Amino acid sequence: DKKVTVRTVQKLKGVEPVTMITAYDALFAGIFDGEVEMILVGDSLNMSFFAEPDTLSATMDQMIYHTKAVCKGARLPLIVFDMPFGSYTTPEQALENAVRVYQETCAEAVKIEGGREKAHIVKKLTENGIAVIAHIGLKPQSVRAEGGYRVQGRSEEEAMELMEDALALQEAGAFALLLEGMTSDVARRITEAVEIPTIGIGAGNGTDGQVLVWSDMFGFFEAFKPKFVKRYLEGAELIRQGLRQYREEVKSRAFPDDEHSY
Ligand code: KIV
Ligand code: NA
Repeated sequence: DKKVTVRTVQKLKGVEPVTMITAYDALFAGIFDGEVEMILVGDSLNMSFFAEPDTLSATMDQMIYHTKAVCKGARLPLIVFDMPFGSYTTPEQALENAVRVYQETCAEAVKIEGGREKAHIVKKLTENGIAVIAHIGLKPQSVRAEGGYRVQGRSEEEAMELMEDALALQEAGAFALLLEGMTSDVARRITEAVEIPTIGIGAGNGTDGQVLVWSDMFGFFEAFKPKFVKRYLEGAELIRQGLRQYREEVKSRAFPDDEHSY
């Protein structure tokens, strides 16, 4: 298998859908290595692995630590660093933080949430040699300001706004768009309108690729399951089964047997 680069991903548009999954550590990144084109070190780890109610308290230091771990586990996929809340409020601050990402980790792109109001930041980063994915639609880092999570693009007015965002971010130099939580119709229209690949989550089947949070798709995160998450495994249940068998065997002294003893 070959190393996936920003160019590889761009060339897949119109050829075949791109697969992306999150990873937060070397162990799972190693399992995902070679199986998907892209790995996102998502700030969703703040919720799924740190049990915070939202992503807002994730820090640059935490994201860098997890990205370093993912870099040790995965060799082939394009690794994307999710810029945490508050790390890209001005072009200068965004550049300083993104430079840190390139200097301290193997990530080859950063992702920032925001529409055309963030285009100047995307421009600053891309002008300085940093590859950017712009994340529009439902933006989890805006959950407190928006008063919750809401599917975007249901009205024609909202659909047009999302389209303007997409075009402005492409113009600013984003190499791909992440479309979250919007109607399939809007996501399809945006995908047709831009030349860069679109990666969807909760955005239907018309995008150039899909991303899911690994602990959601494999059933490890059980607190809630949004409609767009498909469970490909019942991970937590599998672990509990194994754990119960272990417990029974320890209690009954069936484990360790001769085979597992010196
Ligand atoms: O943090 C994350 O995992 C994300 C995906 C949901 C796109 O941003
Ligand atoms: Na995120």
